[in-house]
This record gives sequence, structure tokens and C-alpha cells, in this order.
Amino acid sequence: MKLAITLLANQEGVSMHQDKVIYQIYPRSFKDTDGDGVGDLPGIISELDFLETLGIDIAWLSPIFPSPQYDNGYDVADYKAINPLFGTMTDFETLVEEAEQRGIGIMLDMVLNHCSTEHEWFQKALAGDKYYQEFFYLRPAKEDGSLPTNWESKFGGPAWAPFGDTDLYYLHLYDVHQADLNWHNPNVRRELHDVVRFWMDKGVQGFRFDVLNVIGKSEEMVDSKEPGSNEEKALYTDTPIVHEWVQELNQATYGKNSELITVGEMSSTDVPNGIQYTNPERNELDMIFSFHHLKVDYEEGEKWSNPEFDFLSLKAILNEWQEGMSDGDGWNAVFYNNHDQPRANSRFGDVENFPFETATMLAQSIHLMRGTPYIYQGEEIGMTNPMFEEIDDYDDIETRNHYRIMIEKGKTHDEAMEIIQAKSRDNSRTPMQWTDDHQAGFTTGEPWLKLADNYSVINAQNELENDNIFKYYQKLIALRKEYSIISQGSYEGLALEHPEIMAYNRHLDGHDLIVLTHYYPGESSIEIPERFLNRPYRRLIGNGAQNELTETVTLGDYETVAFLIE
Ligand code: GLC
Repeated sequence: MKLAITLLANQEGVSMHQDKVIYQIYPRSFKDTDGDGVGDLPGIISELDFLETLGIDIAWLSPIFPSPQYDNGYDVADYKAINPLFGTMTDFETLVEEAEQRGIGIMLDMVLNHCSTEHEWFQKALAGDKYYQEFFYLRPAKEDGSLPTNWESKFGGPAWAPFGDTDLYYLHLYDVHQADLNWHNPNVRRELHDVVRFWMDKGVQGFRFDVLNVIGKSEEMVDSKEPGSNEEKALYTDTPIVHEWVQELNQATYGKNSELITVGEMSSTDVPNGIQYTNPERNELDMIFSFHHLKVDYEEGEKWSNPEFDFLSLKAILNEWQEGMSDGDGWNAVFYNNHDQPRANSRFGDVENFPFETATMLAQSIHLMRGTPYIYQGEEIGMTNPMFEEIDDYDDIETRNHYRIMIEKGKTHDEAMEIIQAKSRDNSRTPMQWTDDHQAGFTTGEPWLKLADNYSVINAQNELENDNIFKYYQKLIALRKEYSIISQGSYEGLALEHPEIMAYNRHLDGHDLIVLTHYYPGESSIEIPERFLNRPYRRLIGNGAQNELTETVTLGDYETVAFLIE
């Protein structure tokens, strides 16, 4: 029984953010207009039409502030200016305006857990200024001369480094050039609030807060039982004071404007905290990123390994977050890609034999979930991991540190490279592939990072001209705006034990939306529960031939389909 269902268009009185789709731009790699091999703000402006055509609402820019770029801008040396590498403040103002004319808001990336060691605050502290020394976590060595704690930096090596020529050490949970800011100090918090207000005044529409849940280190720091372990992370992650400080940040800044959208990047968080961060009654954030679902190809929790991904865990984790956040009235950012992750299509699919099916299947599993979907640049045209063969082709600080660590631990060069090809953050940072011309139309010069050599086939121009991945993303985005069951519906996981198909249902006002996605090649069948059968339905979207909702549905290679049922 098939019927046209038209009554699900979005209704009034609904939270204004839930039908939005956010697109992440990695400015270094998006589009270069001055030939220096690094993307820039005029480059972003020149491609706003492309983003408008895609249909996104918000463009999140990875950091564009002055920075020595040890961690590609996540080491901020001045929070209130634009890095000349990317352009000028006037360029930024033009970007905000031009984007607004196309109905696109700009979201900035606020890195407030740490600042660059080149930031004035750190430099003044180093020069002996006591006021600024209190901006950082400075500690003496232990009595036996060892570091203040045994904590590990997330980028490898110890989390403490000597503070100038004093006998103190400063804490850096990330790179040695990224000094953790002491949020216990009210002057630090006041300065950071001021930074956020500065950009609100420039007309930005949202903020992404980098690693926000590790700002709450206890002032009394103690050793962990095992350096780098989860137990160690728990010492400084999601501590109760983080919620207080986020509420304070909200009140002092973005909470004053309900149109702004905020997302917190949460390292190693859990559902109860996720609910606290995002339940509207708590006035913290609109949504959060969590990463557990992107650790399903880690061997015993170790990122620098390369096993097959564990599909049942992937489903279980996504399901836990979907259901848990729904139950607690929280809200997820839903995503498979960003600038820290390998390309999901290379990771969970087959980009050689089924590039279209893989990319659209992954997109559909995410976009029809409960939460706000994020698209990372290049995902919408099917960009892949570049598979560089030399360590020198990789630029990322974390990759290079871990290459060294893997070699020290006894891996051969080839073994280490195989892992890096799968896991390096540079997998997603290669320049955007616009055309099949010189350097894919990204730059007229030498790009800062090599391109993937498949750009003659995989590029935006091709995608715009053919009915391919880009068009599928356009449809998914348009559907979210058209059907409130997608933006508002509740979520229910189905067939959680099915070894090849991810299945879930969205429900709203007596209607159901069944989403089926096959994560493997070949055929696979799934039994559909009776309550969904013998009702009027139609196929809302799919990437293959299946268009019948029957007792048993069979899906082909990486096939996905969604049925809307009255
Ligand atoms: C976040 C960013 C990552 C950066 C780190 C330290 O995880 O996404 O790119 O390296 O924070 O700022």
C-alpha cells in the first residue's frame, strides 16, 4: 500500500535549531586565492555559492586566529584578530555579510582550554609577571625531581614542560606549544568571555568550543595509576565544575542571544554528562560532539592500530547516544567526519568499488538520526584518505609524534605507515578537490599538504555536473527541512544484533520513518516488525533499487533506504 504523505512539513513552535545542517570548513585546505598554498577567507567567500547550493545553514570555520600553527591554529596566539595567513578583519566582516546574504551563518571555533605559548599572556608570565603566571597551571617538580604528575599529553609524551628557566613546569594536555589555561582564575574566565562577546559583536551565528570538557582540572593534581589511561583522563574530564563554568559562559555571552548555535567538543564524555551539557533547562550548550563511535577501529582503545571496524559496537554506541540523549532531552551533533578523523568512507566502506553507495549510505545513516548533522568539507563530494607513502608527506604534529613513538616501540616503517595511512588526521586535511585542473583548483601555487591523487575523478565540478554524491546530500538536507519527523521525531534502534544492517525508526505524531543501511557489500536481508507493515508508506530516499517495505527487506551493496509510514 503506497500513498503520498504530505503533512509532515515542519511546524511552528519547534526549537529553531533542530532542522539545521552545519558544514565544517578547514580554512587551510578549502580554497587558496593568493597562491601561497594555504586556503584563505577570500577563498571561502568565493565558494559561498557552492555552500548555498548544497543547502547548509551554518559554516563552522576551524580556527582563523593568529597562531604559530603548531597545531594548525588550535594554538591561538591572539583571540581577537585574524591570522594574516587567512586574510584581514575586513575579509572576515565581508565573509559574515556575504554568507548572511545566502542564508548562511558563520560559526567560529573557540579554543579556550589552552592558548599558544606565543600568546601575550604566556609570554608575560614567562617574563615574570605574577598576574599572568596565574593564568596557567604552573607546578614545581615532585620531591624526587620527577614531573608534577605522571600525566600524558594527548599528542604523546609527558603533559608537563619546563616553564622558561624557572624550576616550575606548565601543564599542556595537548602539544607543548599549547599551555592549558587556569579556568579557576576568574580573570581568565572574564578574558575568555570577553573574547566570545567580541566575535558576537562581529555578527557570528555560532560557536564550536574546542575540548570544552577538560577545562575543569582540579587545582590539586594527583598522579594517575597508569599514564594515558582512561582513569587518568577521568581526573580532568567532565568534572562537576565544568558545568558551572559552561553555565557562567552561557550567561555572560551566547545565552543572551537565542539565535546563536553552540556545540561543545567533548573528549571521552558520557551520556549523563552529555544530557547535562545540552538539556535546554540547564542553559549550557545546544549540542555536543562525542567520539566513542569513532573508536570502533581501535585495538583495545589504542588509536594507533588498524583492525577491522567493529560494526556491532558502532551500532551499539550510536544507539546508546541516540536513545540516551533523547530520554534526557539532550541533543547530539551527529557526524562521521571532521578535521581530526580519517575519512569515514575510507574507514567504513569501499571507496574503490562502491564510492557512491558507501558515501551516501554513511550520510543517510547520520542525517536521518535525531541530532544536528555535520558535513566536513569534501565529504559531500566523496573525498577519500590520500594514502601517502612517506612520513614526510604528513604534516600533522600528532601523526609525526606517534610515528616516532611507534618506531621506538619496535614497529617497522611499513607497519607504522600502514597505521598512519588509516588513522592520521591529515587524511581529512588534504586540500579540497574543486576541479580536475592543476592542484585540483585549490591553489595556483604549491599546497601546504599534498592532494589525494584521485582528484581528476573526485572533484566538486564533476559532482555538480552529475547526479552523484553531492545531489544526495542536497536531498538529505532538504528532507530535514521538509519533514519534522526527521528534525523532531523520537528515535528507536531496531535489530541491534543484525551483523550487517543498521536499522532505526523515527516516530512523530503517529508516523514512522524506518531507516535501513547496509554497511557491507553483497546482499543482506532484515525482518521488518509487523507494526510497520500494512500501513500506507512511501520510499522517502534511497541509493539503490529497493523500494518496497515488506516483511523481509533485502539490501544490496552498501544500500540504504528510508520509508515514511503513515
Ligand atoms: C580538538 C581539535 C584538534 C586539536 C585539539 C587541541 O580536539 O579538534 O584539532 O588538535 O582539540 O586543541
